[in-house]
Amino acid sequence: MRVPSLGSARLLVLLAWMCRRGLSSGTQELRYPPNRIAVIGAGIGGTSAAYFLRQKFGKDVPIDVYERGVVGGRLATVNLEGEDYEAGGSVIHPLNLHMKHFVKELGLSVPKSQGGLMGIYNGDEFVFEESSWYIWNFIKLLWHYGLNPLRMYMWVEEILDKFMSIYRYQAHDYAFSSTEDLLHALGGAEFLQILNETIEESMLKSGFSQKFINEIVTAVMRVNYGQGITINGFVGAVSLAGADSGLWSVEGGNKLVCTGLLYASKAQLISGAVISIEEKTREKGRSGGGAVKLYEVTYNSTSGLQRDAYDIVLIAAPLVRKNANITFLNFSPPISEFSNPYHQTVVTFVHGHINASFFGYKDPSHFQLTDIFTIENPKLFINSMGTVSPVKNRKTVLNPLLSPRVWKIFSPQPLTKEQIKLLFLSYDSNTVKIWQAYPHYSPPDKFPPIILHSRMYYLNGIEWAASAMEMSAVSAKNAALLAYHRWYENMDMIDQEDLHERLKTEL
Ligand SMILES: Cc1cc2nc3c(=O)[nH]c(=O)nc-3n(C[C@H](O)[C@H](O)[C@H](O)COP(=O)(O)OP(=O)(O)OC[C@H]3O[C@@H](n4cnc5c(N)ncnc54)[C@H](O)[C@@H]3O)c2cc1C
Ligand SMILES: *[C@@H]1O[C@H](CO)[C@@H](O)[C@H](O)[C@H]1NC(C)=O
Ligand SMILES: *[C@@H]1O[C@H](CO)[C@@H](O)[C@H](O)[C@H]1NC(C)=O
Ligand SMILES: *[C@@H]1O[C@H](CO)[C@@H](O)[C@H](O)[C@H]1NC(C)=O
Ligand SMILES: *[C@@H]1O[C@H](CO)[C@@H](O)[C@H](O)[C@H]1NC(C)=O
Repeated sequence: MRVPSLGSARLLVLLAWMCRRGLSSGTQELRYPPNRIAVIGAGIGGTSAAYFLRQKFGKDVPIDVYERGVVGGRLATVNLEGEDYEAGGSVIHPLNLHMKHFVKELGLSVPKSQGGLMGIYNGDEFVFEESSWYIWNFIKLLWHYGLNPLRMYMWVEEILDKFMSIYRYQAHDYAFSSTEDLLHALGGAEFLQILNETIEESMLKSGFSQKFINEIVTAVMRVNYGQGITINGFVGAVSLAGADSGLWSVEGGNKLVCTGLLYASKAQLISGAVISIEEKTREKGRSGGGAVKLYEVTYNSTSGLQRDAYDIVLIAAPLVRKNANITFLNFSPPISEFSNPYHQTVVTFVHGHINASFFGYKDPSHFQLTDIFTIENPKLFINSMGTVSPVKNRKTVLNPLLSPRVWKIFSPQPLTKEQIKLLFLSYDSNTVKIWQAYPHYSPPDKFPPIILHSRMYYLNGIEWAASAMEMSAVSAKNAALLAYHRWYENMDMIDQEDLHERLKTEL
């Protein structure tokens, strides 16, 4: 009886040896599942990446998600007088299909949105004001801007329509190796063109009036991106889509999507700041020849500096010094820095009575607005302000003059006490959040690469096309698919031309 058991033991050793040989010999090496995957950053980009990586690589591959702050990143709430308010990314478009899917999958809920009245202030007076009478608004819009508003919806819809192809391509598992390739597959040369010019140039070319661009378009850019009509045409269109109806947000706070995705992905959360990533060569165990390249991630946690090695790394945080601040060691050629700056936006929440006379109202009792947008004027110290409801227990909008309300104010610089006192007749509390919010757009902007190194990927380059939750989710799915196809050498799933035509015949 000893002989066969010895034999099977020997066979096992032999098999194991053959497996190791297989693992370490040339192209075969990458056919086995990766040992470990790291995701850096637990915002919507990183957590959705973990979710998509799990879908692709299966249940057994360990995935670590590093976060130096709070899960959610730029999706965050602040507390004012016992209630939480959305302080970062707040509204989601009805056609943001990844976000919609996450919310459904995670069993989160979406409260009913409520209307309000918007006015555009130019520093002296309101150049446009909505009233509670819908037909009157329509006539006013026509009177001021002719058919521009209607044409704008069509113009934006056309761009959105093209962008929506991404969902079909991703549902069929196709990936792109650069942001340019991804956008080109969706909108062809036209997309690359509008990325290279300002929203003002794009819209003038399409025949919109300067007055409409200077007032409505500028106001919307300032609310959404804290910048004027010098931002690129693509992010400009995304921003205009953000003025559509049907926008929504998540009950309890948008960041719940991030905690939910992290949980669903069964990834391990590691609290710590990643400081550096170094390429290391590790010899395969005693018996196997050949060497494997690994990425060694060094991070700072409460128990000091620590290291871990990974086969695949996804970076889901802006690679700028003021943000992720990660140093790449020992790479040749070196991984270049993307030093283009992010734009600072300050969010201030104030509970108080608005000072309508500050906005040129002779008779403040007529003031009914819940949202004040602005256009360029050097004497303005705010970009916009609007009343907000807490992320839980939303109440219906009351007349802002009758009771003190919570106002959310966007400004480029922190507000001084004097400035707050000008905006409010009286107030009892305020709270401030300063963001490196989104790229400072100045087209033509260069896109950082998605592939930083053979198995290291960067998600946030897509923000240079447009920064939004859905864009991070699209980029996360693309990076997860790209990492997967490159690992298993499915090159026919990457950068394919004419997907539109091909998928038509596949249906
Ligand atoms: C004020 C404001 C309003 C906005 N409004 C909207 C909106 O209405 N709708 C919309 O769709 N989008 C909006 N956006 C944009 C949207 O919030 C972002 O595009 C999106 O949240 C970015 O997600 P992300 O995961 O890519 O990056 P982030 O959310 O920035 O996540 C990166 C994470 O990585 C962590 N991290 C960074 N460096 C390291 C490191 N070295 N080690 C470990 N962890 C690290 C950070 O702490 C962070 O949690 C808004 C943004 C701001 C600031
Ligand atoms: C966009 O601008 C870049 C840099 O200026 C240039 O290299 C590229 O060819 C331009 N692309 C288009 C489509 O105009
Ligand atoms: C690590 O974190 C500690 C505590 O936050 C800090 O004092 C230290 O400077 C950090 N070290 C590095 C190398 O960043
Ligand atoms: C980036 O990190 C280095 C150390 O890793 C530190 O010396 C430097 O101050 C950091 N820069 C910023 C802007 O935080
Ligand atoms: C309100 O605005 C007016 C006009 O700018 C200003 O004179 C006044 O000081 C502001 N504050 C109060 C409390 O009225």
